[in-house]
Amino acid sequence: MPVYILGIESSCDDTSAAVIRNDVILSNIIANQKVHAAFGGVVPELASRAHQQNIIPVIHEAIRQAGILKTDLQAIAFTRGPGLLGSLLVGTSFAKAFAFALGIPIVEVDHMQAHILAHFIRNPKDEKAVPEFPFLCLTVSGGHTQIVQVNSHFDMKVIGRTIDDAAGEAFDKAAKIMGLPYPGGPLVDKYGKDGNPEAFRFSRPAIPGLDYSFSGLKTSFLYFVRDRLREDASFIDHHTADLCASIQQAIVSALMEKLQLAVRQTGIRQVAIAGGVSANSALRKELTNFGDNTGVRTFIPEFSYSTDNAAMIAMAGYFRYLSGEFADLSASPYSRSTV
Ligand code: KG4
Ligand code: ZN
Repeated sequence: MPVYILGIESSCDDTSAAVIRNDVILSNIIANQKVHAAFGGVVPELASRAHQQNIIPVIHEAIRQAGILKTDLQAIAFTRGPGLLGSLLVGTSFAKAFAFALGIPIVEVDHMQAHILAHFIRNPKDEKAVPEFPFLCLTVSGGHTQIVQVNSHFDMKVIGRTIDDAAGEAFDKAAKIMGLPYPGGPLVDKYGKDGNPEAFRFSRPAIPGLDYSFSGLKTSFLYFVRDRLREDASFIDHHTADLCASIQQAIVSALMEKLQLAVRQTGIRQVAIAGGVSANSALRKELTNFGDNTGVRTFIPEFSYSTDNAAMIAMAGYFRYLSGEFADLSASPYSRSTV
């Protein structure tokens, strides 16, 4: 019998709802919040207000596009954390109230686990191999950078993490230094396509083991641009493509270096990427090259499941539903990762 689950994601600045039938996504609606662009970053209070405005129409549309009735739903999965508390509260409260009204259970989902579990979403029109356990996943977003050893759907061990900025933050901060709007990561990717990744060199992070550090790279980029602007006020305008390509190269090679070390250390030869930065074209290319050169199996998510979306929440919710792990109405959001 098919299981229909509604997934709700509201951890940061995207309000999203999706309906899944077992492991197949029927709808995935995302309302981006444009309101933050003018502030150069997400403003938490504005994010929660925008979630409140968006959540009903987004859920309504997800159910409509799925071609089902709300009474067909068997459970509601929601992001419990990590993320902005005010934003998470909107999705969490809505999930509880809606499930209570429908008389169905709620399932809590960890946002970072969901990014990883997005790899198990099945597309009947384009069947692809899914990773087998155990595999490694580089989870790279605006708030996190982790190398995760995935032993099962819910047994995940973080074996490396950033000690300061996340990779997405490094992209966004570099973009901000160049005067690009938030979120700058996709723009660095876009402009970098016409640039030379070897044009400029910034100090590379040197930290031991599988951990990452991006704050030194950001400072090195900031000082470099500031010094060049002293000599030439239009330096950024004339070198946007090369600057973007070079900073992107620095971030991606730092990411890949530790990921390759993790493969050597663990002996695990299946590697996935997940999270917003997994949409980056240079990272996708480098991971594919790594797989081609070494025989390691690589897994890259569809673009629509890279950045924040509720499809991944519904997918993770389905696995929890199958294992009978339901949350109760007292489940409150958490801001920091528990994984
Ligand atoms: O997973 P996500 O949508 O939200 C969080 O959970 O944080 O990740 C958002 C991050 C932002 O920092 C954004 O700039 C970055 O992912 N991002 C990219 C690209 N697309 C999104 N960074 C580099 N290249 C991209 N194409
Ligand atoms: Zn995310």
